Amino acid sequence: MSDLRVVVVGSGAREHALASAMAPHAEVAVVPGNPGMEFEQIKSLARVDADLYVIGPEQPLVDGLADRLRAQGKLVLGPGTDGAQLEGSKAWMKAITSAAGIPTADYRVVSDTAGMLIAVQDMITLYGGCVVKTDGLAAGKGVFVTHQPELAMLDAQQKLDGKFGDAGKTLVIEQPLESSVHGGAYEVSIFAICNGTDYVLLEGAQDYKLLERGSSINTGGMGAYSPTRDQHRLAEWAELTIKPLLTELKRRGIDYRGILYAGLMIVDDEPYLMEDNIRMGDPEAQAVLPRVTSNLVTTFMQAAAGEPMDPVEFSSDYTIATVLASAGYPKDPKDGFVISGIEAARKVPGTQIFFGGVDADEQSRLITKGGRVLTVVTRGDNPAEIKSRNNKAVALIDFAGKQHRSDIGKELLTNI
Ligand code: AMP
Ligand code: GLY
Repeated sequence: MSDLRVVVVGSGAREHALASAMAPHAEVAVVPGNPGMEFEQIKSLARVDADLYVIGPEQPLVDGLADRLRAQGKLVLGPGTDGAQLEGSKAWMKAITSAAGIPTADYRVVSDTAGMLIAVQDMITLYGGCVVKTDGLAAGKGVFVTHQPELAMLDAQQKLDGKFGDAGKTLVIEQPLESSVHGGAYEVSIFAICNGTDYVLLEGAQDYKLLERGSSINTGGMGAYSPTRDQHRLAEWAELTIKPLLTELKRRGIDYRGILYAGLMIVDDEPYLMEDNIRMGDPEAQAVLPRVTSNLVTTFMQAAAGEPMDPVEFSSDYTIATVLASAGYPKDPKDGFVISGIEAARKVPGTQIFFGGVDADEQSRLITKGGRVLTVVTRGDNPAEIKSRNNKAVALIDFAGKQHRSDIGKELLTNI
């Protein structure tokens, strides 16, 4: 083990996966972490000194944490407030995307009812539908896609009226990206580690955004598998959507050093940039990172320092990652239920558990605290075997009202 010290900022299962992927190559601590993580947990950043800081979630990045650490001379993986606007303001992201010549949905930016009514009508007339988005962060719940103008106007007015606080004071009204007659449309995520000028790609993962197939209630990701059937296309799509973005950021004096997650819609085989996130996906990180075989700390440090980066290497294994959520999630997650069966689940071959919404009770037992409690990840070379092992590990873990999808990764069984 090297004597490098790395701090991961955050407390979710994504940060647990980041810490675990770096642990073979450095001493890792988490700030603040959670009691399910087997790493040193530190309450406050003021009390740590590390060779590298990896910031997991978007909110601290939008709030300027990377800038504050860099001002103290620290090496940080994560953009400053300038680059963080890619996720913090959808209107800004659309302006950059258009200036960079990246294919994206047509859009209007509005901040009052009169402008909104015109923009919705425009999109309906031009494209037969419309997407209403809050400009600011809305915990993944600020997007509404519809073909009915009245519903779009109602949703947009509620957002303008403060349903998402200040995040909805400005709206982006967009063309729906959907298939024309042939080809079809589907979503793909690309994860790139950026050093300000250049990027290296991680392998991809497919996320599942709903609690169950066909549900209309938005949730955080409920599971993921990696790699996806599009793996061989990702480099080509990144050239069209990430490379020009970094060039445009640089032209504006923005040195983007961090992870960039590009959400694409592939329409009739062409990539359209739908969203940029300034961090890894959750739960995609839990599916992708256990497959890394190279030294992630080295690549992260190179990116953070603006230096040429070593590529990230992956095993040919597959992973299936199933999220277990609290009773009541997403509307009203219930806290405080004891989680059992963790040790038994860990013994299922190829299985790792990453903790997110957990706390410890007075007897040091893990209890639920928050929506997405933990992610059960199973890795191996045989998809059918991984799926049955993942099911087994998921069944072994229990807490009152446990919710999860049982179809995560089923595509792996049919696509190869
Ligand atoms: P965003 O927060 O921008 O990623 O949007 C969240 C989700 O809304 C995406 O993953 C898509 O499923 C959907 N979405 C966003 N923009 C569009 C669009 N222009 N057309 C169709 N679906 C969209
Ligand atoms: N899994 C989607 C996200 O992290 O935004």
